Amino acid sequence: MGINILGTGCYLPEQKLTNDDFTRFVDTSDEWIRTRTGIKERRMAGWEPVWYMGSEAAKRAISKAGIAPEDIGLIIVASATGDFHTPSMSCVVQNETGAVNAAAFDMNAACSGFVYMLDTARRFLETDNSLRYVLVVAAEALSRFVDFSDRSSCILFGDGAAAVVIERSDKLYTSALGADGSGARLLYARSVNIAEEVKVEHEFDDGFPEKRLHKLYQDGREVYKFATKALPKAFHLAADKAGITPEDIDWFVPHQANVRIIETAAKNLGAPMDKFIVTLDHYGNTSSVSIPLALHESIEKGVIKRGQKLALIGFGAGLTYAGAIFEY
Ligand code: ACO
Repeated sequence: MGINILGTGCYLPEQKLTNDDFTRFVDTSDEWIRTRTGIKERRMAGWEPVWYMGSEAAKRAISKAGIAPEDIGLIIVASATGDFHTPSMSCVVQNETGAVNAAAFDMNAACSGFVYMLDTARRFLETDNSLRYVLVVAAEALSRFVDFSDRSSCILFGDGAAAVVIERSDKLYTSALGADGSGARLLYARSVNIAEEVKVEHEFDDGFPEKRLHKLYQDGREVYKFATKALPKAFHLAADKAGITPEDIDWFVPHQANVRIIETAAKNLGAPMDKFIVTLDHYGNTSSVSIPLALHESIEKGVIKRGQKLALIGFGAGLTYAGAIFEY
């Protein structure tokens, strides 16, 4: 059983940060950022809470799908930067969208979150015949966790939200989800409350190098190495189940972290770069939002067309990786 994407939507904060803007507070340059990452600018949330961005993206996806919100049976939201520990963001999105009949839960698989959600949604559709539509939402404000004094990480990230509405179909679908928790200490942001409660700084060395509350820490080089292997791995784990090769794919939609990671993954897959959707130049790395945002933009622009085969491949903190291959 496969999925059919009925509608997509996004929300982007108005505020833009160009590479030059960063030169005001860290020792960097537009040239360094462009050549090492491919990023030119990114959006940054101002007054918008993450749930607001997610809800706006969701409303647009529902409108595009042309369905009544009451007919949505399940909402899943992914975020690594949500506003609340509880309630789940999905409950807030339910209220904002009027999807009053939907069950709602959140998921956190960092930047792999969208593919994890999509795959979970498909499994719900497969096992519950009463379910017609699932709303899948990713929303992030990385800017609230980024350490703006760390030049190697602050330049990478951006904010925004994207959503899709799906239903079941008999089209091609294959997927694979994976994780390697031994890399948990390579990329993380602490929960503020927990860090205060257990007083990690003084009483217990938990082995996570960055002790400052809720600032994002990453070992860029190690994550880079992992990422270049994880993208081809996510593809092959999913593709091999269905006898699919890179040649069968019309569009790869990879997690948008660094264009050099995508170029290396393309080379390792033996697929040309012009089959890879790249949007990180104008959005940076928006974590779980990056794949559905790239998907949405490419559908809106008519780049991705009905009947084409897509490979969504992601990796992220955890460390996690995930691939989903399906016909649009
Ligand atoms: N401007 C100028 N110089 C910089 C900057 C900057 N913004 N950042 C780092 N440098 C310097 C370093 O200090 C270092 O200087 P040194 O040689 O004097 O020590 C030099 O540039 C080279 O540093 P590297 O770390 O080797 O640079 P690299 O080419 O590896 O690029 C980067 C760093 C962009 C972080 C890269 O490692 C990367 O993309 N890693 C993966 C990050 C990623 O994908 N994270 C998120 C994944 S999951 C998720 O999305 C949550």
